[in-house]
Amino acid sequence: MVEEVLSALQVRTGGHYIDGTTGEGGHSLAILGAVSPPPHLLCLDVDAEALEAAGNRMMEYGGNATMRQASYSDVAEVAEEAGFLHPDGMLLDLGLSSLQLDKGERGFSFRQEALLDMRFDPSQSLTAGDIVNGYREVELADIIYRYGEERRSRRIARAIVGSRPVGTTTQLAEIVTNSVGRRRGRIHPATKTFQAIRIAVNDELSNIQRGLEGAVDTLGAKGRLAVIAYHSIEDRIVKNALRFMASSCICPPSVPQCVCGHVPTVRIVNRRVIKPSTQEVRSNARSRSARLRVAERLQIQAI
Ligand SMILES: C[S@@+](CC[C@H](N)C(=O)[O-])C[C@H]1O[C@@H](n2cnc3c(N)ncnc32)[C@H](O)[C@@H]1O
Repeated sequence: MVEEVLSALQVRTGGHYIDGTTGEGGHSLAILGAVSPPPHLLCLDVDAEALEAAGNRMMEYGGNATMRQASYSDVAEVAEEAGFLHPDGMLLDLGLSSLQLDKGERGFSFRQEALLDMRFDPSQSLTAGDIVNGYREVELADIIYRYGEERRSRRIARAIVGSRPVGTTTQLAEIVTNSVGRRRGRIHPATKTFQAIRIAVNDELSNIQRGLEGAVDTLGAKGRLAVIAYHSIEDRIVKNALRFMASSCICPPSVPQCVCGHVPTVRIVNRRVIKPSTQEVRSNARSRSARLRVAERLQIQAI
């Protein structure tokens, strides 16, 4: 959703922007190339390998691209350290990159045999193997239910615990498939379990919440925040967090008159979520579930 992101961020020469999830650098390159002379861009990613590859692709932009291996959940501190004090825009393109998914040895995919890893940041200690082989059955079921929205989570957790030790991605996929069966035409039965374990390994949902708050705190007045989510759990967090930040009253409905004094910090730019064009979905099937939401930082009046 490159065009949609550029239009949301309203990139201008001399502006300062942050790509919180640089990945392979596709969006970063588009932001840098959107205007001439290019804007200033701070590129973050927790994955050092991805960041290095993206940095090489951005070489021609020299000092306009600043790279930092950091989590977007720490954007306030990182932006300040890098001299991006009140940026004009920030992008969060959530989840994992095609590169990570396609690199079998990273353990994100059940289509290739690999150790159970799934870390975005390979220097982090917790791996998918630790969760699959170490968590209690009830904790595992809870993760699969909440982060995978998988109704058959208990049955799957029981099967995993009964098959320990589970060594590889393909073993895990087989255990899940054998426990719930495979129906023709549906998504692979292990898809939701893999999504859930990846979210747990990388603490993705807490990061999103912290990242959205950090981004809004960091943005300058009228700065734009663009967030792309790929599944309903992520998108719900983004929608609710932006609605909360945009509302002038957060009193419960039972309170007859507003007493909260809540001050809105953003304006929601697109009331309806933006979806990829049919043309984009046709050329890149993975984009079909992308959902873009955009908010604008309001000028906060000093009291
Ligand atoms: C969907 S990809 C981004 C793709 C990118 N927009 C592009 O055009 O190539 C998401 C990226 O976010 C990174 N990521 C995940 N969690 C992160 C976090 N908490 N902080 C920074 N980067 C994170 C992943 O390592 C991955 O490279």
